[in-house]
Amino acid sequence: MVEQIAEDVYWVGVVDWDLRSFHGHELSTHRGSTYNAYLIRDDKNVLVDTVWDPFKERLIENISEVIDPSEIDIVVANHAETDHSGALGEVLRYSPGATVICSKMGEKNIRGHFHRDWNFQTVSTGDSIGIGDETLHFIGAPMLHWPDSMFTYLAEKKILMPNDAFGQHYATGFRFNDQVDQCELYQEALKYYVNILTPFSSQVTAKIDEVLELGLPVEMIAPSHGVLWREEPLQIVEKYRQWAAQEPEERAVLLYDTMWEATRRMAEAIGDGLAENDIPFKLIDIAVSDLNDALVEVFRSAFIAVGSPTANGEVLPAVSALLTSLKALKFKNKSGFAFGSYGWSGEGVGIIRHNLEEAGIRVEDEGLRCKWQPAAEDLKKCRAAGRDIGRSLKN
Ligand code: FEO
Repeated sequence: MVEQIAEDVYWVGVVDWDLRSFHGHELSTHRGSTYNAYLIRDDKNVLVDTVWDPFKERLIENISEVIDPSEIDIVVANHAETDHSGALGEVLRYSPGATVICSKMGEKNIRGHFHRDWNFQTVSTGDSIGIGDETLHFIGAPMLHWPDSMFTYLAEKKILMPNDAFGQHYATGFRFNDQVDQCELYQEALKYYVNILTPFSSQVTAKIDEVLELGLPVEMIAPSHGVLWREEPLQIVEKYRQWAAQEPEERAVLLYDTMWEATRRMAEAIGDGLAENDIPFKLIDIAVSDLNDALVEVFRSAFIAVGSPTANGEVLPAVSALLTSLKALKFKNKSGFAFGSYGWSGEGVGIIRHNLEEAGIRVEDEGLRCKWQPAAEDLKKCRAAGRDIGRSLKN
């Protein structure tokens, strides 16, 4: 259903209630998502972003509720990723003469996706285009989260359209932040930040500073996923500033996989030691848990312990996947610990320690290994390790 979000500005996007994984199967989306596209009616009709290809007909139907799709003069492509550019070909089939406005990198990436010679016009920070009563300003936002990303600002309406930034994978029947459950909204906004934007946290801080220095009044932030921020729109900017600082809480998360319960028992004993020091913590069996949700716990926690039994000289595959994600997301300001059981060769703990260090996580302890099932003495060492971790967190 089309929704007018300001005078002559319409949300013409799609709510994808059924989406349960994004980027193929890389990112879980328990609450679905939306692909937000915006239509501005003026002397020149402008579409800001499109939707994912499977929904291209819905986009055309939505546009048709407002104008004839052949009357689109300009398509702003803030970002080339398929969930926003996927329906570009369909839109331009209706309006083949339309200008596609994007960043320089955006043109390269869109050409790489579609291999079509459309009427591109590239823009960068400081460029603006009058479309009648309204003026569009453009702000380059490279690596938020792709090299081509940019923001569009509707000057007269005071609406910032920052594409992926400030978004959430969150399907709802409503379009605005003040209409939805705030707990769900912030769970999804944080999960989105952690899993998509964490590696670019320094760019997030710099871009927030740059945009605030421009002194642009912002009455609404209209991202490309989830709800639009119209009530206190800068609240999500402040949250991003806070998240980008990566100052974790005084809490721990213990992530492990286990074959015959030995590594699980070690994790539980480390947890007992943490509890003795009143440190909040979570135990997560990563083999049966959602990796993206687990990474949110990692983001929040100042201490991360990772455990795996050794199998064929390696850690178990679920732990490998976790370690790969830790290296990719480049969390800051965390300490780590490795533990695990083994039967004969016992490389697992060393592998975990090495990978944690490669991920930029401080590891000051050799870690704990236990041969076969933990004996009382092993569990005592695990509890002691938990107490040490707790003391280090308190200090
Ligand atoms: Fe929502 Fe980077 O695409």
